[in-house]
Amino acid sequence: MHTQCTLIYKKISNQLNKKIIPPLSLAVVDQNDLKNFILNPREEKCLSPRASKKRIIDFKLGRAAARKALNALQINDAVILKGKNREPVWPPGVTGSITHKNGIGIAVVASRTMGYKISGLGIDLEIIVSKYRQENFPLYTSGEELKWINEADSLKRFIMLCSAKEAVFKLINSLYNLSFRFKEVKLLWHAGDSAFHYEIKQKQLTRIFHGLIYCFECDKYVFSICYKS
Ligand SMILES: CC(C)(COP(=O)(O)OP(=O)(O)OC[C@H]1O[C@@H](n2cnc3c(N)ncnc32)[C@H](O)[C@@H]1OP(=O)(O)O)[C@@H](O)C(=O)NCCC(=O)NCCS
Repeated sequence: MHTQCTLIYKKISNQLNKKIIPPLSLAVVDQNDLKNFILNPREEKCLSPRASKKRIIDFKLGRAAARKALNALQINDAVILKGKNREPVWPPGVTGSITHKNGIGIAVVASRTMGYKISGLGIDLEIIVSKYRQENFPLYTSGEELKWINEADSLKRFIMLCSAKEAVFKLINSLYNLSFRFKEVKLLWHAGDSAFHYEIKQKQLTRIFHGLIYCFECDKYVFSICYKS
């Protein structure tokens, strides 16, 4: 495994083990892993014929990570297609999530055979870069979130909030086929758990969703993960 991948893999595994998240299969890949990787023709059809070179690489990174995470569970030759909301479609008895950023692909998967029932997962990787302007923070965050951002490390905290919101979007959207906006998710940081508590209150939703999103720094990235049992 390439040095950066190894670093990210170790950091995420350590954190997952510390936080007593149920057993999951994690894979981190980069472009070196694509040398011997071939998409299944049905997976290739998930890509638009007009897909850019970057989009093709990102898609491959995600599928290569997913394949590796599944192989570790002795699930070989799986074909991971795309659902109607762009979500990955996992083999029966398996659930998972994919993220790709900056030439890195990460997948986390859980299988019924691991002895713990996980019905859904959401992960996200964001790079800590200063492309975000402070005046735009209120477009994505509000109230207590903005207060927390303004207390210290504004840029990193803003990126943590965005990453956590993307992760929970993947979880809730793929489980319940529900969409919501950034500001409809309210996050509250729990330093002890290194996690955000989330609450999603959307006008059209009859129920309120809540839970934890674990979020931590990982080299020059922020990684977020949440799941539903
Ligand atoms: C779907 C979305 C969350 C992806 O996040 P991103 O940071 O752009 O990209 P990532 O690399 O982290 O993730 C991409 C992968 O997520 C997965 N994904 C895409 N849509 C998904 C969905 N609806 N549900 C679950 N997973 C999804 C796919 O595997 C995708 O990779 P692939 O297309 O190569 O298979 C984002 O693009 C999006 O549309 N967000 C909704 C917009 C919004 O308002 N979000 C509010 C958050 S509260």
